[in-house]
Amino acid sequence: MRYKRLGNSDLVVSVVGLGTWAIGGDFWGSVDDALSIKTIQRAIDCGINLIDTAPAYGNGHAERIVGEAIKGRRDKVIIATKCGVLRDGPRFIRTLKPETIRKEIDESLRRLGVDVIDLYQIHWPDKNTPLEDSVNELVKLRQAGKFRYLGVSNFDTKLMEQIISMTDIVSLQPQYSLLERSIEKDVLPFCREKGIGVLTYGSLGGGILTGKFKERPKLEKGDHRDRFYPFFHEPLWSKAMQLVEALREIAYEVGKPVAHVAINWVNQQEGVTSALVGAKTPEQAEQNAGAGEWELSEEHLKRIEAAYKNIFGSDGVD
Ligand SMILES: NC(=O)c1ccc[n+]([C@@H]2O[C@H](COP(=O)([O-])OP(=O)(O)OC[C@H]3O[C@@H](n4cnc5c(N)ncnc54)[C@H](OP(=O)(O)O)[C@@H]3O)[C@@H](O)[C@H]2O)c1
Repeated sequence: MRYKRLGNSDLVVSVVGLGTWAIGGDFWGSVDDALSIKTIQRAIDCGINLIDTAPAYGNGHAERIVGEAIKGRRDKVIIATKCGVLRDGPRFIRTLKPETIRKEIDESLRRLGVDVIDLYQIHWPDKNTPLEDSVNELVKLRQAGKFRYLGVSNFDTKLMEQIISMTDIVSLQPQYSLLERSIEKDVLPFCREKGIGVLTYGSLGGGILTGKFKERPKLEKGDHRDRFYPFFHEPLWSKAMQLVEALREIAYEVGKPVAHVAINWVNQQEGVTSALVGAKTPEQAEQNAGAGEWELSEEHLKRIEAAYKNIFGSDGVD
């Protein structure tokens, strides 16, 4: 496994991180908690030291499962969780009110069973709360020793400019994959310039870039990933399938899974620190961790770029 320093922090994270949205159990179809715990533990055994979670994933359920899985393994993991998205049944509510953050962090610490959160991220911006109010509260909580480093997620450059004028942040968590490249325009260059680490989500396009789907999947009841990732619908689906074929050719040549090609493409873009990849089984976690053992050649990267342009045009999907 390769490891990189996250932004200007002293956190050294694996280039493949484990995402835990799916194991929250209320958005990605059914999950088996015992299997989820084994999945997290297998990821750790395979060298993954970065675990990303959030209260919003199953209204605290994913954090509780992470807490169970890391008992006795706290020294082996960097725990990244978030604030700012509450659940009301199936609804996701964005709020960064100071009093809500104060309550959320204590609940996260309790569910995770840890004394301190390594990376605390603002999950989504909240238009209705002045950012300064949220930041003042977060700074107090950091000083109180509840978390070590602050990060943001789904922020544009304007919001990042705003927050770094108030306090230090070490990371951004944006969506980034071969199917969603909009951060390349200004967000990724901004992070490179400011030394902000980048933890990408949706690195496998919700599973599409593993190459396992031959046709549009009939997702089981309760699996809503296609609401969040638009590539499960036309016109993107057909293009995604063409891209997968290009990745499959390279995977075949190097004797590796298609998922590795997709994960390594993300990781080899300048400025990316780690690709967060969701997994529902120990086998998936182990396979994904394997991407951290090798890299694509320059020639592979050029071929992927050519295939991408051919399929999506030079402006990409956005
Ligand atoms: N900050 C944010 O707003 C935000 C938003 C989204 C995600 N995230 C974070 O980023 C993480 C990663 O993104 P994601 O989980 O949404 O999507 P993803 O990593 O693109 O896809 C994960 C899904 O792909 C399938 N999969 C993974 N590895 C596989 C393998 N080797 N073989 C076959 N199938 C495999 C699994 O689902 P199946 O087996 O059911 O197909 C898994 O749940 C999340 O878990 C979460 O921690 C953050």
